[in-house]
Amino acid sequence: MSKITAAITGISGYVPDYILTNKELETYVETNDEWIVSRTGIKERHILKGEGLGTSHIAVPAVKELLRKTNTKPEEVELLICATTTPDYVFPATANLITAEVGAVNAFGYDLQAACSGFLFALATGAKFIQSGQYKKVIVVGADKMSSIVDYTDRTTCIIFGDGGGAVMLEPNTEGYGVLDEVLKSDGSGAPYLHMKAGGSRRPASIESVENREHFAYQEGQTVFKFAVKGMADVSAEVMERNNLTGDDIAWLVPHQANKRIIEATANRMGVDSSKVMLNIQKYGNTTSGTIPLCLWDYESQLKKGDNLVLAAFGGGFTWGAIYLKWAYDPK
Ligand code: UT7
Repeated sequence: MSKITAAITGISGYVPDYILTNKELETYVETNDEWIVSRTGIKERHILKGEGLGTSHIAVPAVKELLRKTNTKPEEVELLICATTTPDYVFPATANLITAEVGAVNAFGYDLQAACSGFLFALATGAKFIQSGQYKKVIVVGADKMSSIVDYTDRTTCIIFGDGGGAVMLEPNTEGYGVLDEVLKSDGSGAPYLHMKAGGSRRPASIESVENREHFAYQEGQTVFKFAVKGMADVSAEVMERNNLTGDDIAWLVPHQANKRIIEATANRMGVDSSKVMLNIQKYGNTTSGTIPLCLWDYESQLKKGDNLVLAAFGGGFTWGAIYLKWAYDPK
């Protein structure tokens, strides 16, 4: 019997309606459009406005659209993994809220947290369930409501992040399409440079933690930048090397959208021309677990069956990784 691989058979995305422009950010903090665009590539980001709305409200429309596009009945879904750093609650898992909301009554679900590498880690995990031969329909979601943990008085972080996410359907394939290899890494010694200080079991919420603004993403940008450039390029080069791929063999690099300069450095190191690099940071900013599915969603009409894709990310933790996959379908 031929080897089973996990093919992406559909992709969808969702961003909330409200657009937060660089101009509006200029009214919150000492910054300007020119600085933000030249240092990050970001022009605007989408924000989920409204009381009582969490990451599941980004994921649910994406999953509903995915079910529609792939002609899947909700009850056919067996597993849903949600990569997120901003779950609706500490518990239950956002995956559970999503499956209930879309009617995936036969699916089990759980969340996976690997900061900006979350979608890659979840995709690799979901693929293993398919490759085992035991599961036929697995949904992998990457979504974040970053505005819930962004300090809009801190100009070094509030300009970067946005809300959004996407979802992919994974199904078995025996013709060699789908997820073919991955290099995934994590190093907890990077935690001090990008983390949230309070709200976990080590420092539960208190009046003091709120007053000290410790419930927001804290980042030492320059340090993270240096690790990100090296980390993303290293794993991308490694996954290419062990699959005998050169820059010419790659149809698309699908990088996590944290900073346009990090993306350019990674593409350079891989020998991949900028015309083959997916880029949408200008309109969504950094949506953490959402960036890679949002890229695939935006570029879906340009993807052809057999295209070699390298997905690469770097994030808090530190976590980083690269996945090599062969795209499984032509534009519909
Ligand atoms: O997705 C998870 C992983 N995260 C990342 O990959 C993010 C990695 N880091 C970055 O993308 C960049 O470090 C930032 C975009 C966060 C910052 O860019 P930078 O080029 O590293 O800026 P910097 O921190 O070196 O700051 C340069 C200057 C400083 O002023 P002085 O000291 O030179 O006078 C900052 O105070 O820019 C100033 N600055 C700003 N100016 C205007 C910092 N933030 C802003 C701002 N507007 N928003």
